[in-house]
Amino acid sequence: MSPVTTRPRIAVTGRIPTPGLEELRLIGDVWEWEHDAPPDPPTVYAAVNGVDAAVTLLTTKVDNTFLDAAGPQLKVVANVAVGYNNIDVAACAARNVIVTNTPGVLTDATADLAMALILMATRRLAEGERVIRSQTSWQWGMFYLLGTSLQGRRLGIIGMGDIGIAVARRARAFGMEIAYANRRRVPPELEAELGATFMATDDLLATSDVVTLHCPYSPDTHHLMNSATLARMRPTAFLVNTSRGPVVDEAALVKALEHGVIAGAGLDVFEHEPDVNPGLLRCENAVLVPHLGSATVETRTAMAVLAARNAVAVLSGLSPLTPVMRPV
Ligand code: GLV
Repeated sequence: MSPVTTRPRIAVTGRIPTPGLEELRLIGDVWEWEHDAPPDPPTVYAAVNGVDAAVTLLTTKVDNTFLDAAGPQLKVVANVAVGYNNIDVAACAARNVIVTNTPGVLTDATADLAMALILMATRRLAEGERVIRSQTSWQWGMFYLLGTSLQGRRLGIIGMGDIGIAVARRARAFGMEIAYANRRRVPPELEAELGATFMATDDLLATSDVVTLHCPYSPDTHHLMNSATLARMRPTAFLVNTSRGPVVDEAALVKALEHGVIAGAGLDVFEHEPDVNPGLLRCENAVLVPHLGSATVETRTAMAVLAARNAVAVLSGLSPLTPVMRPV
């Protein structure tokens, strides 16, 4: 008698582009959440009960409660994001659940967004847009809405992974000089190509004209930017964050922006998303956009497909394409 083979069950806990779903449907029975707003935890727990794979968005918290709800046949959690701070990786490892993320495919989109925020903040573009939209009277003036030039200025990159490197390449094209702080140095050829100087974080903060954050969020990077580290920055400098909100102490940033400790900020991510510290809304010198780093049609499609392929690989007994490494 031939063994009975059942199709694996897969839950997708947020709306993802169709090409990702199609890859999953080829091999399994797929439950998908069809709304843009994320499901509440009880809905997630009911949906993952008994599944072999979960494809998750960064709005899904994968912790022991989730894993208990899923049950022992869960083999893989495929996150549709490069960041995976929504997932308790150690809890997954303890249950032999493989965790994957989507590095690479969102590097350019996120680096573009960081560069856009650097330009918006230094050139006061959001302020200018508010003038036009509010129909405030204005006229061209020699001193009207003057910003800061990037040429010859130092960009300090905290976290020199793929995205940090991609931002460095873009900033070089704008004539910026590159400094970076990272757990380890990048290869000398790359330093030479980027003209990048490796520095201690404190030195980078004290000497950069723009500081951009590209480190993962972890207990080590929680509130990396706080009142003390913000105070190390130049009063003429800008802070850009496209990594994770809690890397910045938002209350301390509001104070720094209000009191001229730094000149401005460009933020794509927030400490308590989707809430934004009301103090930031008062800061004309803060550019605020709603977590759009990877938000292009092409990138989100590539992310969904990569996450699906990770799930399919594990369910097929193969190695995942992009497993998450436990941070050390
Ligand atoms: C988005 O924030 C991601 O981590 O992919």
